[in-house]
Amino acid sequence: MNMLVTGGCGFIGSNFIRHVLANRPAVRVFNLDLLTYAGNMENLSDVEKDPRYAFFKGDINDEKLVSAILADPGIETIVNFAAESHVDRSIMGAAQFVKTNVQGVAVLLEAARGRGIGGERFLQVSTDEVYGSLPLNSTDLFAETAPLHPNNPYAATKAAADLLVLSYVRTFGMDAVITRSSNNYGPRQHPEKFIPLFITNALEDKECPLYGNGENVRDWIYVRENCAGILAALERGRRGEIYNLGGRSEQTNTHVARAIMELTGRTERLVRPIQDRPGHDLRYALDVTKARRELLWAPVMSFDNGLKETVEWYRAHPEWVARAKSGEYQQYFEKNYRGRS
Ligand code: NAD
Ligand code: DAU
Repeated sequence: MNMLVTGGCGFIGSNFIRHVLANRPAVRVFNLDLLTYAGNMENLSDVEKDPRYAFFKGDINDEKLVSAILADPGIETIVNFAAESHVDRSIMGAAQFVKTNVQGVAVLLEAARGRGIGGERFLQVSTDEVYGSLPLNSTDLFAETAPLHPNNPYAATKAAADLLVLSYVRTFGMDAVITRSSNNYGPRQHPEKFIPLFITNALEDKECPLYGNGENVRDWIYVRENCAGILAALERGRRGEIYNLGGRSEQTNTHVARAIMELTGRTERLVRPIQDRPGHDLRYALDVTKARRELLWAPVMSFDNGLKETVEWYRAHPEWVARAKSGEYQQYFEKNYRGRS
């Protein structure tokens, strides 16, 4: 089977490609990635010589390129990870988010449709952020039937893409499935995101900027568990269905920050509360009953063990971190954090 993975040089996409090559010997993977600031060829350096892997540098918005790849080598499944993925960047400017996360998905869907009904299976990698925020100190969970209520530009573009995908199922009979996962963590996550930012800053004895009062809650899933869930949805998910992939591991940001200080051997004095993110969602939490029942999938990694492994990975890869934090990152960091203390 030939699988097109888009955005495969990013955090989750690269972990997914490694997972597929290791666990599905009959699958050949074609990776289309634009290599934005978040894309890194190094993330797949250990598999780049695998004869079952090929890389194309390009944009999912490039209709000709996408159609050409779908036709030759002849793709049977498409898994779309390609996206602008950072909420803070979407607050600074939404245009690129609309272009990649909405228009790019429209291009992929059209190209797949052009190859005929019932052709490729299309999996859209979505997020729990499309449901919006739950109250703190509640035990409510979002099921797949919850209404869409995105609260930031990133989440709004992901919700729009989900609706587009579902419209292609309904209108054209497309064989598409959507996964919505909670917050991923693990090796190779860009250090603009909370956990790798805190780990790498702590290891460099730099301050770690905690938004607001630190009481916001996220449901953390170890990246490999999400990858296993995405593959299960691709193989066993029903056409037109949505599957929540949550880690069942809710943590306040303060708790995560403290755990990172302990694992890196730093004091909590490095954690600096700063002005909150505008529109900051309070709490995310997913009901994963449907994925357990239909995909026979369940997350098993404990947050403590997953975080320990993650800290060790960043400690062991200082060159990767230095490259990710060089160039454009410095300007982004200045722009996002200046004047917020
Ligand atoms: P990431 O930012 O690490 O990687 C995104 C990848 O997409 C990069 O390799 C980048 O070069 C590529 N890309 C961006 N624009 C492109 C374009 N126009 N054409 C081709 N490639 C392009 O993102 P991630 O954290 O790995 O997230 C992957 C997907 O999972 C995204 O769709 C995101 O919305 C979703 N998601 C992420 C999380 C999370 O916690 N990180 C949780 C739920 C869902
Ligand atoms: O829930 C899934 C989503 O998780 C994905 O769809 C997004 O792609 C991914 O980026 C992530 O979004 P969040 O906004 O939850 O992740 P982030 O790592 O940016 O922030 C996690 C929490 O930490 C959030 O409550 C904000 C807080 N935070 C974040 C940063 C970057 C801080 O306190 N300080 C920071 O510097």
